[in-house]
Amino acid sequence: MYSELKHHPVMVDEILHYLAPKKLKTYVDCTFGQGGYSKKILENADCKIVAIDRDKDATEYADLLKKKYPKNFVFNINNFSKIDHILEKNDIKKIDGLIFDLGISNTQLNNPTRGFSFSNNGPLDMRMDIENLDLTAQKIINEFDQHNLSDIFYHYGEEKKSRQIAKKIIEFRKKKQILTTFELVELIKKVNIYKKKHPATRVFQALRIYINDELNELDITLKKSLLFLKKKGKIITVAFHSLEDKVIKNFFLRNKDFLKILTKKPITPCENEIKLNPRSRSARMRVAEIL
Ligand SMILES: C[S@@+](CC[C@H](N)C(=O)[O-])C[C@H]1O[C@@H](n2cnc3c(N)ncnc32)[C@H](O)[C@@H]1O
Repeated sequence: MYSELKHHPVMVDEILHYLAPKKLKTYVDCTFGQGGYSKKILENADCKIVAIDRDKDATEYADLLKKKYPKNFVFNINNFSKIDHILEKNDIKKIDGLIFDLGISNTQLNNPTRGFSFSNNGPLDMRMDIENLDLTAQKIINEFDQHNLSDIFYHYGEEKKSRQIAKKIIEFRKKKQILTTFELVELIKKVNIYKKKHPATRVFQALRIYINDELNELDITLKKSLLFLKKKGKIITVAFHSLEDKVIKNFFLRNKDFLKILTKKPITPCENEIKLNPRSRSARMRVAEIL
């Protein structure tokens, strides 16, 4: 229905290199999306994949893989922070690897009705899981006080003009509710004139992280993963902004006694990949192995 709905998975070859999937091993794809990673892994090894995504729109893509690999692939609509329940439900005690490709997929970003994109006009929503989350961007923008708004923009978007933007929003909404992504973008543009980034990049990032509790989800799951990963099991993460990268880096450092960090510096996509898929330019991959 929408153009550009295809998601191009980032650094797939690098993922395969570090995971080195093998027959009979079990891997968890925490962020299934359109299944780019799961598909590639299954093409390379007769292994088992437990895939997770909190967005029911991912089901359509999971059904295709399930059909092709009925014995090797299971899909769960859930938050990845529920990994313990998911593994128990699937009768799995130990795993050989865990992958995160964080953020949102093109299914979500390029569907205007989801409200994730500052380039498409749509309702202010931004929930990854429409069924179970009540808090929308519209509610935050129209109901939170100036102090709270400014805090969200600053802490989750590192937006330097957080206070001025919050003030503009409060002034505007005295006249009328702010209902669409473009209405919000227009307000932000009155304060922000970035040259390198779209002026609304940071505010949209902040709202998305806050609504979906993204940093806590990640931290909880990384901690839980240590209970399930076998010796030499891998944790592979692909982050797209410094806040999530910081959670991963800190987790790896805090657990130095149990983990060997295989990427001293994060791995970034090659020039050719960035040319073909500009969205990949901010990706940072980190890998650790259980000692
Ligand atoms: C960048 S996309 C992954 C794309 C995927 N690697 C592919 O090749 O299509 C991230 C996906 O993770 C999901 N996601 C993000 N946070 C999640 C969470 N806490 N629990 C479960 N799924 C999550 C999103 O709904 C989205 O579909």
